[in-house]
Amino acid sequence: MRLEQVGDEAALEEWRTQVLGRSGELTQVLRGIGGMEPDERRAVGQAANVAKQELEAALDARSEQLSRAALEREAADGLDVTLPGRPRRPGRLHPVTRTLREILDIFGRMGFAAIEGPEVEHDEYNFGRLRIPEHHPARDMWDTFWFDEEIDGATPLLLRTHTSPMQIRFIEQHDPPVRIVVPGRCYRYEATDATHEWMMQQVEVLAIDEGISVADLKGTLQEFARQMFGPERRVLLRNSYFPFVEPGVELAVDCFSCPGDDPRCPVCRGSGWLEIMGAGMVHPEIIAAAGFDPERYTGFAAGMGVERITMLKYGIEDIRNFYANDLRFLRQF
Ligand code: PHE
Repeated sequence: MRLEQVGDEAALEEWRTQVLGRSGELTQVLRGIGGMEPDERRAVGQAANVAKQELEAALDARSEQLSRAALEREAADGLDVTLPGRPRRPGRLHPVTRTLREILDIFGRMGFAAIEGPEVEHDEYNFGRLRIPEHHPARDMWDTFWFDEEIDGATPLLLRTHTSPMQIRFIEQHDPPVRIVVPGRCYRYEATDATHEWMMQQVEVLAIDEGISVADLKGTLQEFARQMFGPERRVLLRNSYFPFVEPGVELAVDCFSCPGDDPRCPVCRGSGWLEIMGAGMVHPEIIAAAGFDPERYTGFAAGMGVERITMLKYGIEDIRNFYANDLRFLRQF
C-alpha cells in the first residue's frame, strides 16, 4: 500500500504496522543484517536507518495532512472544533437540602437517629391517633389533599400534613428509649403566598424514655438553636396548642439580625423573637395507646419547617423562591 493512497487514520495505522511495525518489511531487513559480513552489514544498516527516518517523516506528514483534512471537512459541516469549550458549572445543593442536612447532623450528634415515613398517609395516623378526631376544630390547621380510593376499607388516604404521624408509627413498632428525627415532605391545601406553600419539608423530633421532662425539651431544642443560629442564641417557650402534646409550646429564638427592637429588621420586624417550631410533652394518652405506662415513660416532641428555618437563616423573604427553579436564586447559596 502506498502512503498517498492512505485515506484515514485506520488505514494509516495499518500502513505503519505493515512497513515499520515489529514484523514489518523494514524490520525484517534490519533483522537480516545480523548474518551479513561486517562491510555489508554497515552499508545495509546505514541505508536501512536512513530509509526508516524518511518513512517515519513521511508518516508524520501524511498523518498531519489527514487530520487537517478532517478538520476542514468538519468546518464545512458547520462544526468549528477550534472554538473554546463551554465551561460546565459545578452543581450545588439546594439551600433547603443544606439546611435539612445541618438539622439532621445536629440532632445526630445528640444521639437522634433519622428515619423516614410515608407521604401518603391514613387519616387515622395523620389525625385520629394524634387525638384529632373527625370534626375536631384543630383539623382546620391542617387542610390537605385527599385521595378518592380506599385501600382495604381502611380510613381515607391523604397527603400527610405534618411528620407527626411517624410519632405513632414509630412507637407502635419500637420500645422506649426512643430518640428519632423524621425528615420529610408535607402537604397542605394552601393559598400560596410569601410564607405559605402547598408543599414543605418538616423535621419531627421525638424522645421517649423514663424521666424525660420539659427541661430536656428545652435543653435539647436550645442546643439545636445555638448550633443552627449561633452560640449566643436564647430560646423562649410560649404556650401553644397541639392535640397530641400536653403542654404544647411554640419555641422561638431571639433575633440574630438586630438587637431585638428594630421595627425595620427584615428577620423579626421588631418583635425580637422568631418562632421556629411547635413542640410539647408527648400526650400521656398517646404513650398509653402504644402500650407503655405513661406514669413511667414520658417524652417530648417537636416539629419544624425546614424552609422556614432556611428563610430565617439566609434572610429569604419569599418561600416560593425555593421551588421556582430559578438558577439566579439557587446559585447564591
Ligand atoms: N406537627 C405540628 C405541625 O405541624 C408541629 C408539632 C410537632 C407540634 C410535634 C408539637 C409537637 O404543625
